Amino acid sequence: EKGTYPHYMLKEIDEQPIVIRNIIKEYQDENNELKLNNDIRNAMKKADRIYIIAAGTSYHAGLVGKELLEKLASIPTEVHVASEFSYNMPLLSEKPLFIFLSQSGETADSRAVLVKIKELGYPALTITNVPGSTLSREADYTLQLYAGPEIAVASTKAYTAQIAVLAILATDTAAVKGKEIEIDLIKELAIVSSAMEVLTDEKEEIERLAAEYLPTTRNAFFIGRSGDYNVSLEGALKLKEISYIQAEGFAGGELKHGTIALIEEGTPVIAVTTHENVNYSIRGNVQEVVARGANVLIVSMKGLEEDTDAFVLPKVHELLTPLVSIVPLQLLAYYAALHRDCDVDKPRNLAKSVTVE
Ligand code: F6R
Repeated sequence: EKGTYPHYMLKEIDEQPIVIRNIIKEYQDENNELKLNNDIRNAMKKADRIYIIAAGTSYHAGLVGKELLEKLASIPTEVHVASEFSYNMPLLSEKPLFIFLSQSGETADSRAVLVKIKELGYPALTITNVPGSTLSREADYTLQLYAGPEIAVASTKAYTAQIAVLAILATDTAAVKGKEIEIDLIKELAIVSSAMEVLTDEKEEIERLAAEYLPTTRNAFFIGRSGDYNVSLEGALKLKEISYIQAEGFAGGELKHGTIALIEEGTPVIAVTTHENVNYSIRGNVQEVVARGANVLIVSMKGLEEDTDAFVLPKVHELLTPLVSIVPLQLLAYYAALHRDCDVDKPRNLAKSVTVE
């Protein structure tokens, strides 16, 4: 039940620090080491390439997962939108492992791919919030999100839970493969959880920013580079699905290849910068849109912040920044929708799980 919360979405955003702690608890053994089922470890070890299949927000979590799997476990990883994969299957590697990312475990587009790759005899791992779901039952292996029921149509805590579980999978695989581990993941996830708590306490400030930057606008752009680009895509999806503001996420460098034509006096642009190696370039992109009249809201990470930034995130490990940078964007979408009197938990035309192809 949503208790004192006006909406499930707000409750679920607030639950994210606890969900991360739950995940740490569930995936940790008594020696504080990561604990994963041996069959899953073997499947990960055998795979020469991972294919992540997902839709919507889960697809966006998959994009973050790719970076984690490649950087930590050194396994080449592709992320595919389920409905596209079905009709245009890429050339597969010799020993592929398929990961189905799905909050509900019932998404028909993802299931169609699962059926197809099982016919071809390939192994499948489902990462889901619902252990008895179709995708879980029909795959060889399951990893649970332990996020608790997600009721609001707009997915929030499942996105961060998916990223956390993928980080665990990637780090565990690195250890199983005898690779040097670059991250003390359990410690870093605990830091993320505390940072999320700081952010969920900033609701008033974010509500104010939503009123300032997204009052009557018809469109908005999210920009970022590298890992921040992945978060921009999810920030845009959250905003569009519940506030009906037309929102798109772009790679900072792509702006000048077309989208900048849409920037005019007052166009809101939300820029995310949490990585030192792209901070300079994304700020260059900010200058480009400011010069054309954009109203830019900069979300930066502690250590990279400048006076112009509207919102500064607590510092977390570089590979885990999407877990925190998404939180103010979720809240921004929530308040923008609220100010427009939209039905936050049940946006028009959308269903919580999409069981038709
Ligand atoms: C967006 C949203 C959808 C789902 C998508 C996949 O907020 O909730 O984009 O992420 O329909 O659903 P699952 O993860 O259940 O497969």
